[in-house]
Amino acid sequence: MKIIRAEDYNQMSDLACEKIIETCQTVKRPVFGLATGDTPNGLYERLIQKYEQKEVSFEHATTFNLDEYVGYSKEHSKSYHYYMSERLFNHINIREDHAHVPNGAALNLQEECVSYEQKIKEAGRINIQLLGLGANGHIGFNEPGTPFDSRTEVVFLADSTRQSNARFFPSIEDVPKTAISMGIGTIMESEEILLLVSGEQKADILAHVLNSEPSEEFPATVLHNHEKVTIIADKGALSKVKGF
Ligand code: F6R
Repeated sequence: MKIIRAEDYNQMSDLACEKIIETCQTVKRPVFGLATGDTPNGLYERLIQKYEQKEVSFEHATTFNLDEYVGYSKEHSKSYHYYMSERLFNHINIREDHAHVPNGAALNLQEECVSYEQKIKEAGRINIQLLGLGANGHIGFNEPGTPFDSRTEVVFLADSTRQSNARFFPSIEDVPKTAISMGIGTIMESEEILLLVSGEQKADILAHVLNSEPSEEFPATVLHNHEKVTIIADKGALSKVKGF
């Protein structure tokens, strides 16, 4: 794993932005795996700026988001699809039919999961899969105990994840209990994985990921098994990692 230390959240976002732009400029039809949550907001803001300054085009890009809450359509203001539209898709020139988020409101969720996998396959390999790090070590919504070879499927959210995501809802009772998540096996097939981590509140988790053997009890440790992982983490997130 390559670890890049950023001074703060802004620099982490700058460095991640450079990496995405470089891929857009060097790969003819780039495919990105995208994440939601707080961590990538700064990156998405910068990508919009660079697009507006005509430094990058997403005309030939395809994206696949990691996850979506079950029961939530793209029009639902708390859905991840809505988040992506508001924070990125509506502001850049990506084709609507190339910006994929699992459909949490699908009538047949199993079919939706199979079809999502199929679309990823048809797009070719994901060039860069962006990840954030969950407080319990999850990646996507793959919670502790998820098999490392899992594929896109309906998953149950851990209590700790629901508590952490309650900040986006009126109360914890409103946080969905299930979601569709890209599988760990699916994520691991990406050509490169870019993990962004910011803040002291992630320091223990990040140190644990870096110092542990791969274990299904701690999903992010699977990244040790991938040949091309870049972690861009800020000073706070790296504060408990020796040598940083
Ligand atoms: C989001 C996702 C999650 C988040 C993780 C960190 O699509 O899949 O794994 O990346 O929960 O969330 P933040 O960035 O809010 O700390």
